[in-house]
This record gives sequence, structure tokens and C-alpha cells, in this order.
Amino acid sequence: MCGIVGYIGTQTAVSILLGGLERLEYRGYDSAGIATIDEGILRCVRAKGKLYNLREKLEHDVNPARIGIGHTRWATHGKPEEHNAHPHRDNDGSVAVVQNGIVENYQSLREELIAKGHIFRSETDTEVIPHLISEYLPEEGDDSDGLLNAVTKAVNRLEGAFALAIIGVDYPDELIVVRQNAPIIIGFGQGEFFCASDVTALIPHTHAILYLENGEIARLTPLGAEIYDFKGKRLRKTPKILDWSHSTVEKQGYRHFMLKEIHEQPDVVRLCLDTYLQLGWNSENGKNVNPIKLNLPETFYENLEYVQILACGTSWHASLIGKYLIEQLAGIPTLVQYASEFRYAPSPILPNTITIGVTQSGETADTLAALETEKYRRVGLEDKYRARILGITNRPESTLANMVDEIINTQAGIEVGVAATKSFTAQLIGFYLLALDLAYRRRGLSLQRLEELIEGLKALPGQIETLLEGQAKSIEELTHEFNDTQDFIFVGRGINFPIALEGALKLKEISYIHAEGYPAGELKHGPIALLDAKVPVIAIAMPGKVYDKVLSNAQEAKARDARLLGVVVDNDRAAAEVFDNLLYVPQVDEILSPILSVIPLQLLSYHIAAKRGLDVDQPRNLAKSVTVE
Ligand code: AGP
Repeated sequence: MCGIVGYIGTQTAVSILLGGLERLEYRGYDSAGIATIDEGILRCVRAKGKLYNLREKLEHDVNPARIGIGHTRWATHGKPEEHNAHPHRDNDGSVAVVQNGIVENYQSLREELIAKGHIFRSETDTEVIPHLISEYLPEEGDDSDGLLNAVTKAVNRLEGAFALAIIGVDYPDELIVVRQNAPIIIGFGQGEFFCASDVTALIPHTHAILYLENGEIARLTPLGAEIYDFKGKRLRKTPKILDWSHSTVEKQGYRHFMLKEIHEQPDVVRLCLDTYLQLGWNSENGKNVNPIKLNLPETFYENLEYVQILACGTSWHASLIGKYLIEQLAGIPTLVQYASEFRYAPSPILPNTITIGVTQSGETADTLAALETEKYRRVGLEDKYRARILGITNRPESTLANMVDEIINTQAGIEVGVAATKSFTAQLIGFYLLALDLAYRRRGLSLQRLEELIEGLKALPGQIETLLEGQAKSIEELTHEFNDTQDFIFVGRGINFPIALEGALKLKEISYIHAEGYPAGELKHGPIALLDAKVPVIAIAMPGKVYDKVLSNAQEAKARDARLLGVVVDNDRAAAEVFDNLLYVPQVDEILSPILSVIPLQLLSYHIAAKRGLDVDQPRNLAKSVTVE
């Protein structure tokens, strides 16, 4: 969603702001703008659409300003037009504000400010903020704390979730940054400071980062950073050094980030397994040693009766597979809920429950809000109802990671493509490890089966490499046959049903082709009415419990003239008889198969979208970090 960058220091602000906004483009946006202060003039330039429109406007404008704020806007209140783009200013253009979030009480504030003579030029909720700040500024700009005090007063009147960066023409050496339930970070350079909604914007400039917490305000000047709470009390904070490398946000020769991230999956799976598998657990000395070391406190497992998982989108699909694994391997009843639904209709409170929030960004507002709901409704209840909250994420520095008791860091690192790929497979590995950990503790599996599954997991990175090497070309070629296709149906059963959902979501997100995922057995209960020669059906048919059933469901589709594509294992002769086209994956245990079966579907979606010339990494209307509810 909206991206924020701010700078104060000795370099030219405009180029730093534009560079930062470019690195935040992946979050999704539909307009952009910057504001700078130089020689007593606050200049604001905004443009609808992509950043190059803004760049074009700035091209002939020599602007040596050393302070500024920038923004990419993902429209919530008001259409994506230039007049709604940030920064927004007060009446006389002396205060400029960029925001990520939503000011919920903006209507009443707007009416109050209009009554006082303020003139509004946009339909946004954000515009109330500069007007409100200007109400609290001292008459003369000679009060050195004037801007900080005015911002403090103003933010105390705002309701909702927001992250802000603010500059004022009478305070040319101050950049004020605010956080309230929307992420924003401060970067520490040499005689310079940055702020950004996401660490990716700052990686080229600094690795010394301070994560502002809710209810905190930072005043950045060329001399230092001061942090205050909303009551004006000064706080002591220390930045952390991050170890993200520059290359994580570079395409490294790939045409799109999504393709690069698909190819990163073997390494991500390897790293996650290396992090959490206990070496030598099955050796002579390692007898009776848990093969999984998630480093969760023992109190987490005490009398465990239930697991409940909250997530959205692709992370919700990973959670469905997580449920399958935890129930089938460890025998623990598991609920999966859409985080966006849970907050307003939570299921009854269960005793002795681990609640898991799953999110690649670690910033999804729905997921964070659902976890908050879960946490607070358990406060003060007897011990068996105490909250035990676990996060599964690739962003250990995110808001999620800071709000939960424990995390499993899936080691996927930053994912730039809006369509989740490597973060999904990494979440799955997180769930395999958790399910095996729980199964070991409950003696739910024989040691032999445990060993088989762990060996199977260790083989996956090599198998993904084989799949990518062997299949990428043929899948790319196959996409030529779908130039005019407008609908796809994906089917799977058992542990591969969520892969059907994920295959359909990937295709919808980046190619804008209508696609649906169904449990294969449900096809005949309704969706089969959609089928004809124009609607291809993709079935995931992995050897195992439901293999024969999937093949017969596929036959039912074929009998309605549907073109059939099968995701099948190498050398599957029976499948060759049924399907028109085959997408092969290496031989694999059914329970591990989702890690492989999803990859041909990721490639298929990618190539269909790339062939149609679409913006694969930043599909229309979508955002990488969905920070509004
Ligand atoms: C995935 O391809 C989507 N972009 C989207 O469904 C995403 O999974 C969802 O918004 C949840 O995001 P999160 O994992 O960051 O919480």
C-alpha cells in the first residue's frame, strides 16, 4: 500500500526520495508526489499514475533541497487523481504531510476545520492532517519546538491507523515522523536521516534502522534523532543493524522479480531447513532428540489441545496446508480463519490453544487486527485460556514479529513481486517443521516415518532445482496456447486442494484472467456447469490417497470437452492417457507434494502474464503490503 520516504541531510533530497519511491513501487500505488523545502519555499510536485510521470515533471526543475518527503499512494478515500495524491498541504502551503493508513474520524475533523475557514482541495482523509497541524502552530515560527508540539497535538486528535512524515516551511531543519498502527522506520546515516514505510527503500543508504513503535513521534534534524511519545515525553531508543543485502532488491538479470523469486525457492527451502533441523537427531547419540528445533518455549506446548490460524490471501492458502499437516501428522484439531473475518466474528475462545498469524509482509492490517483481538479477549482469563501467539513470517523485523510471543522466521527474506511465490513455499516449510515438531512431542509418528519425511524435506531443494531446469521452457511454450483464454478452473484434493486455490489466485492476480480453484470432488456439485471447450481445467494429481479420485474427476471434466492439464509426477503413464498437457514434478511423497506441485502453476501464471505484456511485479489494484482493513 502507500509508500513513504523522507530525507534530511546533506545530499540532494529529490534524488533520494525518487530512488526510495522506486524501491517501494512493489507495494502497489496509483499516484506519487514529493515535497521539499529550500530557501524558505515549500515545493510540492505530484502526478497521477506511475513514477515516471512524476520524474518527468521534475526533470527540468533544479531543486537543491536537502530535506523532503515523498509518497506513492494506493487510493482509499478519493480516486487516484493528482489532486488526491500526497503530499497534502494546509491552507497557505506551509506544512506538507504524507500518510500511510486511514484517519477514521476525518469527516468530523474536516467539518470542524472548514468551519474555521480551512479550504480543502482533495477528497482524502489525509488532508485534514496538515490543516489540523497548522491550527496548532505558533503564530510566529520562532518557537523551536513549534512543529513538534503542533504535530503532537494534532495526532492526539486522530483516530485510526496511520504513519506520517511531515515538514514545515518555518522548520527547514526538521522532519517529523509519526507511527500509530501503521509501519514506519527511521534510517540513520552519516549526518543524515531517512524515514520509510519499508526497509527496502533504505537498503542502499543505511543498515542502521530504528523501528518506531505505535504512539511514537520522531524529530529528525541534521544533528540527531529524538523520539517522543504522544504525550511529549522523550524516549530512549537504539537503532538495530540489519543484514539485508542490496542484492535482495535487485532483479539480478531476471526479467521480473517474480521470476527471480520463483528461482530462489530451492535456496529458501534449504535455508529454512538448515535453520530448524537438528543435525544428528537420528544418530546413535541423538536418540530421543527432537529433530526440529524451533526454539519455542516449553510453555507453548503445555497441555496443547488446539491450533488456530489467522491469515489472508496466499498466506491463508499456506495455512490450509498447515491445518492438514498439524491434524494429519500431529493429530491436533486446527481451525483456519480469514483474518479479515475473524475480527468481527471470532470463533468461541478455545482452551490451551496456539494461535498462529501467517503473513509474508508482517504488516497485513487484517491479520494484525485479528491477532490483537485474539490477544486481548484472553487477557485476565484463567491460565488454560492464556494467549500463546506465534507468527510465521519472512520479515522478522515486521510489526507482526514485534507483536507476537514467538516467530518462525521462514528465511525467505524480502519478496518484491506482489504475487507471493517464495514466501508461500517458505511458509509451507514453516508448517512442515511445526507439524513434525508437534508430532514428535506427541509421539504421533513412528521414528521411521519421521525420518522418511525429514529425508523427503531435505530432498526438496534439489527436486525444485530439477523441476525448474526441466520444466521452465516447456511451460513457457505451453502458454502460447492460452492467448485468448478467459477462464481457468484449478482442481485438487486433500493436501493439494489449497494448491488449486493458490494456482487460481496467482493467475488472477497477475494475468487478470478469471480463475477458480475447487476441491476436485466438488466440481460435479456445481462448477462443472461452467465447463466447455473454452475453459481449461488444471488438475493436481499427485500419487497418493486421492490420486485415483482426482483422475476420475478430471475425466468428468474431459467428458464436457474441457481441455485438461495435469500437474503430475515424472513417468506417470496413467496420467498421460487422461491429460492433454502434462506439467511434471519429480516423484515425491504425497504429503510433501504441495512444495513441488505449486511451482509449475507459479511458472504458468508468470509466463501467461508476461506474454500478455502485463506488469507482473506490480499488478493493477494490488499492493504487496495491505496495510488497511
Ligand atoms: C499473494 O500473491 C497476494 N498478493 C495476497 O493474497 C497476499 O497473500 C495477502 O494480501 C496476504 O499478505 P501477507 O502474507 O503479507 O499477510
